[in-house]
Amino acid sequence: MSAVRYEVDGNVAVLTVDYPPVNALSAAVRTGLGEGLEKARNDDSVEAVIVLGADKTFIAGADITEFGTEKSAVKPGLRDLIETLETFPKLTVAAIHGTALGGGLELALGCHARVAVSSAKVGLPEVNLGILPGAGGTQRLPRLTGVETGIDLITSGKHIPAAKALELGVVDAVVDDVRAGGVAFAQKSLAEGTQFTAVIERNDKISGVEPKVFEEARKRIGAKARGKIAPMVIIDCIEAATKMDSVAGLKYEQEKFQELFASDQRGALMHYFFAEREARKVPDLPADTKVRPINSAAVIGSGTMGGGIAMVFANAGIQVKLVDISSEALEKGMETVRKNYEISVGRGSMPKAKMDAALKLIETTTDYADLANTDIVIEAVFEKMDLKKEIFSKLDSVMKDGAILATNTSSLDIDEIASATKRPEDVIGVHFFSPANVMKLQENIRGAKSSPSTIKTVMDIGKKLGKNVVLAGNCDGFIGNRILQYYTGEAEFLLEQGATPEQVDRVAMKFGMPMGPISMRDMSGLDVGVLVRKARWNSLPEGERMSPIVERLAERGRIGMKVGKGFYRYEGRDKFPDPETTEIIEGVAKEYGVKRREFTDEEIELRLFAPMVNEGAKELEDGTAIRASDIDVAWVNGYGFPAHKGGPMYWGERVGLKKIHEMAVEAEKRNGPRWAPSKLLGRLAKEGKGWKDA
Ligand code: 3HC
Repeated sequence: MSAVRYEVDGNVAVLTVDYPPVNALSAAVRTGLGEGLEKARNDDSVEAVIVLGADKTFIAGADITEFGTEKSAVKPGLRDLIETLETFPKLTVAAIHGTALGGGLELALGCHARVAVSSAKVGLPEVNLGILPGAGGTQRLPRLTGVETGIDLITSGKHIPAAKALELGVVDAVVDDVRAGGVAFAQKSLAEGTQFTAVIERNDKISGVEPKVFEEARKRIGAKARGKIAPMVIIDCIEAATKMDSVAGLKYEQEKFQELFASDQRGALMHYFFAEREARKVPDLPADTKVRPINSAAVIGSGTMGGGIAMVFANAGIQVKLVDISSEALEKGMETVRKNYEISVGRGSMPKAKMDAALKLIETTTDYADLANTDIVIEAVFEKMDLKKEIFSKLDSVMKDGAILATNTSSLDIDEIASATKRPEDVIGVHFFSPANVMKLQENIRGAKSSPSTIKTVMDIGKKLGKNVVLAGNCDGFIGNRILQYYTGEAEFLLEQGATPEQVDRVAMKFGMPMGPISMRDMSGLDVGVLVRKARWNSLPEGERMSPIVERLAERGRIGMKVGKGFYRYEGRDKFPDPETTEIIEGVAKEYGVKRREFTDEEIELRLFAPMVNEGAKELEDGTAIRASDIDVAWVNGYGFPAHKGGPMYWGERVGLKKIHEMAVEAEKRNGPRWAPSKLLGRLAKEGKGWKDA
């Protein structure tokens, strides 16, 4: 069966791309479209052609799974098809529903006109894969939207709704039904003799653009890109559109596409794209596992975390009850929730109507009995086992059969929490990251007795909540925080050994982290750090210590940004090195007989990130993580690890597992037994293999 159906509706040929799951422009689709267009060209009864997608969506772009394979070279190529559509002697119309993305939108921009249903979205998200729209997107889209909007859309990869696309001139009409609306639009245009100018020939919006538009865009977007190269190259291509004729502009875009395609960043981001999708799959769940319907939720605890989680559910249109011990606490919690919404509305990232609708979905209560009919409850109180157990025992007595009882703990034992109930099969960890309404990671933690249906339900709900999910095993710190302690721990050892806080932070930021590990401590508060580390100090194995710099700074009242001094001294948000910090660090080094020296940036980079990979390997070994790429997903979404480096495990493989293993051997000697190389890492390094062989 062809991937493209050809039908004739009156005087209109309808080409329907039917290539699940997302009608990507595979060799089969391109061949089908090429054949369909030739048929339409030769059919005298046909006066117009519409292109649309079957099932849920228009065309979601080039077929990423065929990248770099022989199939990607099969003719006609996407650029050939676009040229055919653009120069076709009969009217060509793209009729869009679902999403028209990447090559899908580029194909639509090659048509003489575009219509979309109101729920459709369009965008050029190639930047998220480390490439640029390589079939004319950088040359055609700005010709419709203007240069500044074009830069914004293509460097961000944003999907815009049909109404906005209409306003920007990307689509010509919004229709009720994709097929009937597309055919009717084509027939009306034919009847009225409407003349459409090919997008590539429209030059009014790209003429006379001041050079400062590009200079400013480079500054603004460069500051946010954290080392990503594709956004900057996209700006170059759009500038080329304003300076070259269309043939030269398209050629320039193609050359730049090839350059980006060959880059390491493209490899990392494509790995990351598939990692996110793979992470949703849990291999050991029976195929017939049922997903429970989640139409209502409750959150216990109205602090920053609880309030944020309530927002997550409300934003997804799910009724949520926020529970706390007093109405004063609830009022305070709701005030913060309202403030957070107002900030989003003020920034323009959320329409006011959406805020109003979300606020209406959040109710408050102090009575657990009100939760009797709720489908899922997420407990988000302090990290105190006794308190959590008391709450779970109460939930056990009030919640209906089949409800999911989840805890948002970031480190406590899920099985012990579950033991406070008579239904441990319904208990599971659902760990959000602060601020919960912003951070994309949802780390689910399976207890020993969590049932398949409990696991599948919380894995599935992530998509509705707009989160990227991973499934972790039950251990101290789970996937993400378990690794974090090696990153921050090594940063502090580096300070003892002579690196400065500024250098460590600078190297981490240059690597692409949103913030350095030292500044991160100052921001979260050293007092909080001291509390979290208390238990760890007591459980250290023999022959191992942690650096006590955090404790020493806190003892002197240097508890972070909130008091104007921690590792750094602060004036507002500006930070400065402080001699008192140096004195404390040097004091600790002297006390432990640590020799101080200078470090290169390269050394610091390896020292910071290699121990994370080693601990990740231990997570694979003991089953805390299902796959190496799940660890990448956790770290990119929960801790801001740069996606263009693929995540820590992907990065480690690029550096070489042999090198990472050598680093772990040295770390064990320096820091103690917990830093010892993972056996799995040792085996893979020795055999010259990678994570897929784990
Ligand atoms: N090619 C091949 N497979 C694709 C694909 C693509 N472009 N986009 C999605 N898929 C696959 C996914 O891998 C997934 O496969 P799986 O079920 O085996 O895991 C399946 O389609 C469903 O995808 P999602 O789980 O992401 O489904 P959603 O419904 O949540 O989202 C979507 C659908 C919005 C289309 C989302 O998949 C998406 O954003 N896709 C990527 C779009 C994109 O980046 N397009 C640009 C491609 S590059 C390009 O066009 C180059 C050109 O300029 C030359």
